[in-house]
Amino acid sequence: MIILGIETSCDETAASVVVDGKKILSSIVASQDDVHHPFGGVVPELASRKHIQVIVPVVNEAIRKSGIDIKQLNAIAVTRGPGLIGALLVGFCFAKAYAFALDIPWIGVNHLEGHINSVFLESSPPPFPFTALLVSGGHTNIYHVLTHTEYRLMGQTRDDAAGEAFDKVAKMLGLGYPGGQIIDRLSKEGDPEKIAFPRSYLDKTGFDFSFSGIKTAVSRYIQTHQDEYKQQIQDIAAGFQASVIDVLSYKIIYAAKKNGCSHIALAGGVAANNGLRERVRKDAFKQGITVHIPSVHLCGDNAAMIAAAGYYYLVDGKVSKMDLDVFSRVKR
Ligand code: KG4
Ligand code: ZN
Repeated sequence: MIILGIETSCDETAASVVVDGKKILSSIVASQDDVHHPFGGVVPELASRKHIQVIVPVVNEAIRKSGIDIKQLNAIAVTRGPGLIGALLVGFCFAKAYAFALDIPWIGVNHLEGHINSVFLESSPPPFPFTALLVSGGHTNIYHVLTHTEYRLMGQTRDDAAGEAFDKVAKMLGLGYPGGQIIDRLSKEGDPEKIAFPRSYLDKTGFDFSFSGIKTAVSRYIQTHQDEYKQQIQDIAAGFQASVIDVLSYKIIYAAKKNGCSHIALAGGVAANNGLRERVRKDAFKQGITVHIPSVHLCGDNAAMIAAAGYYYLVDGKVSKMDLDVFSRVKR
């Protein structure tokens, strides 16, 4: 089954052609980093406008690179939420119209399910059930994953998402947007023990997170070290990153043990973080747990993961109706 995936939930316009939820024939991601960089964060209205400008060339490029003819497409999968409403609507309306014109089924996909299914695009995916840590700019969630489309939320952030904390700390340090990648790089040159930031475990037997305290601690450090902090950027980055990683690694391994799972998956933009990848692998190994992390290009927002999740809906015979709408947040 050949599926065209489309993703426009935030600041990436992406399209991808995937066979049987597994084999990526093409994956195009047009980043809007340049548009949002001067503002230190995503400006929703600018994101929608940029999606409108590039959605047609991005889809055409994905089709061209895949080497297929559009008549070979069996279905279209598109992100319906959570995300920025204006941004989502661009991909969503495009996908509906394209599917209608081609007279093929279409599937509205939950963006978070897309991230979870990104591990199945790799050569050694986890067996079910497994425990997943989804760490992105908007979410820090732990799931007990039962099938491709069934999962139980075990814990989530009570304030900032991990990626959001990376972005905000980078902004405070004047490093630009998006901050995760920059902090990741600078951390390698710093000493994580030189400046100690707090670890927020909340309840050590629970799976919720809180990252606003670490963010505030960095802000306070900057305020109280106005004269010297610019010479300490690498150590601040390393200290901040270490405090986030300590908590993420502890909780995902504890959750897997609680679930009796010997397989963990990491997904989402922050799963691209080198320190996190290394640390979870190391900690999990000691516990006899296998870790599955997608390649870096599949951690951040992309449309291959949307096509993959859509495939499993289609296998279950689930297709979307034309009156389906987008949504901005997951209802609790
Ligand atoms: O999954 P994603 O592309 O979009 C959302 O669904 O939110 O995640 C974007 C987030 C941003 O906050 C970005 O700073 C963070 O992922 N990120 C990283 C790294 N690369 C991207 N955070 C830490 N280390 C990285 N290497
Ligand atoms: Zn995402």
